[in-house]
Amino acid sequence: NPSDPSDIHRKAAEAAAFLSEKTDLRPAVAVVLGSGLGAFATALESPIAIPFAAIPHFPRSTVPGHSGRLVIGKIGETPVAVMQGRVHAYEGYSSEQVTFPVRVLALFGIRGLVLTNAAGGICESFAQGDLVLISDHINFTGHNPVSGPNDDRMGPRFFDMTEAYSLRLRKLSQAIADNGERPMQEGVYLSLLGPSFETPAEIRAFRTWGADLVGMSTVQENIVARHMGLEVLGISCVTNMAAGIQGEPLSHEEVMETGQRVEARLAALLEQMLPQMSKM
Ligand code: 6GU
Repeated sequence: NPSDPSDIHRKAAEAAAFLSEKTDLRPAVAVVLGSGLGAFATALESPIAIPFAAIPHFPRSTVPGHSGRLVIGKIGETPVAVMQGRVHAYEGYSSEQVTFPVRVLALFGIRGLVLTNAAGGICESFAQGDLVLISDHINFTGHNPVSGPNDDRMGPRFFDMTEAYSLRLRKLSQAIADNGERPMQEGVYLSLLGPSFETPAEIRAFRTWGADLVGMSTVQENIVARHMGLEVLGISCVTNMAAGIQGEPLSHEEVMETGQRVEARLAALLEQMLPQMSKM
């Protein structure tokens, strides 16, 4: 049974042991870089890059723009682990597979996790190219990655989601961005399966629910991270406004192009955030 939790724990522990043999670095923090946002991975010093395909039991990414490697290296003296790419449920992966890398990173020893993504903007005060801190989420994926029997070695059966996205990490990020001069915007991220973008009617409906951003990732990873007690920061890059807001058709090319325009700004924020997070 692939979703047998003791099996997931064994596989994640094997993958974590593999990483421990590949490097002497023991990062306390990790980042997942979303679509078109991979540049930060190249900023690490003394990096080792491990293709997902080389890590035991890891899922492989199939989308262009997700190169699919785990890079472990340093920012100054701070060791960090960077997932350059992720797999998505719309590719056909189960929620166990989508969240497996987070379990591995947690068993490898990280305590803080930054989840980044490309998102559509629902809130009209957002603009294309904005970096927005995720304040909370709505799980509209139809799945919960911790359903089924619970493995108490990974986390408790029931757990609180009041601070799914850490308030203190958001405050730290606010203080760092533009030297605290221009506060970062915050918003609620709604995730769904994809891969189709939403209809204008869906976007209007999601707005009434309190959603500010819409995307196809992050929420399941957040749930598993919280299950394992990690502190999470979420950052969305508004690569485009959601359907029906500007009347323009949406495209993956636009998502990638905006991501590439913003990834240096995201990398600068991460370079400052991660060493401080690592000390907390
Ligand atoms: Cl508009 N929707 C979804 N689901 N994902 C996105 C997006 C929109 N823009 C970037 N990623």
